[in-house]
Amino acid sequence: MAFKKDSVMGTMVFIISLSLVCSFMITGTAEILKERKLVKKRDEVQQFVLKAADIAIDTDFREVFAARVQPKIVNIESGEFVEQENILDFDERMAAINPDTSRKPKKDTAKIKTRADIVRIFEVFDESGKLTSVVMPIYGKGLWSMIYGYLAVEPDLNTIKNIVFYEHGETPGIADFVTDPEWNALWQGKKLFDEQGKIAIKVVKGGAKAGDIHGIDGVSGATRTGLGIQKAVEFWFGVEGYQTFLNRFAAEAK
Ligand SMILES: Cc1cc2nc3c(=O)[nH]c(=O)nc-3n(C[C@H](O)[C@H](O)[C@H](O)COP(=O)(O)O)c2cc1C
Repeated sequence: MAFKKDSVMGTMVFIISLSLVCSFMITGTAEILKERKLVKKRDEVQQFVLKAADIAIDTDFREVFAARVQPKIVNIESGEFVEQENILDFDERMAAINPDTSRKPKKDTAKIKTRADIVRIFEVFDESGKLTSVVMPIYGKGLWSMIYGYLAVEPDLNTIKNIVFYEHGETPGIADFVTDPEWNALWQGKKLFDEQGKIAIKVVKGGAKAGDIHGIDGVSGATRTGLGIQKAVEFWFGVEGYQTFLNRFAAEAK
């Protein structure tokens, strides 16, 4: 159909064509960025899991991760593994806020509001294929913000290999100890559970006593952040967290 460029019809055709071109461009850019975002997220997970497992991160971290780490999905309630593909792309935060894939904890000591029904854990092996640690995500409320990290336990499922935090919104300059490797190192070798199997890990205000196998020095002026981290560990290694899985894992390893 012929029409003049400066007619009403011509203007409308121009506007519609321009809108279509723009929307294709926006959609295309969003798709490219989505893929880049996924790659960045995957890389971050791999780097933090290796850090938690106390494996030095270098440029080959993806190869090291592929060779030594086995990501798995666990059903928290049953403690069983769940078959799933692309575990590195599993979005635990979406799972935790989606009412179909999460539930409210009965005792929300970590103040997380909802907890996903399934979570990722990471089995870490040495070069000879021997299990060296199990890395598990933890998170809980500090003073101002949700604090997200990973805690790695040795094969006895009690001794802490390392702890790392990758996201928090606590006060800079006051609560920076959260990501300070020196403070994180205080957790190494500490025991999560006492002899009765009760969670016993404590962030101690004023500093843990020498030889305290469950105590980690708190940081004065930021006691609330430290307490939040303690509560997060207590929650995730308790009955509404990894306890059923850990019992099952220990029984299967025997
Ligand atoms: C501006 C401001 C920011 C603060 N940020 C934190 C924080 O991020 N984490 C924390 O535990 N305490 C923070 N505090 C201190 C707490 O309010 C509280 O006094 C402290 O946790 C108690 O620790 P203490 O018993 O070692 O003194 C902040 C205080 C102020 C005034």
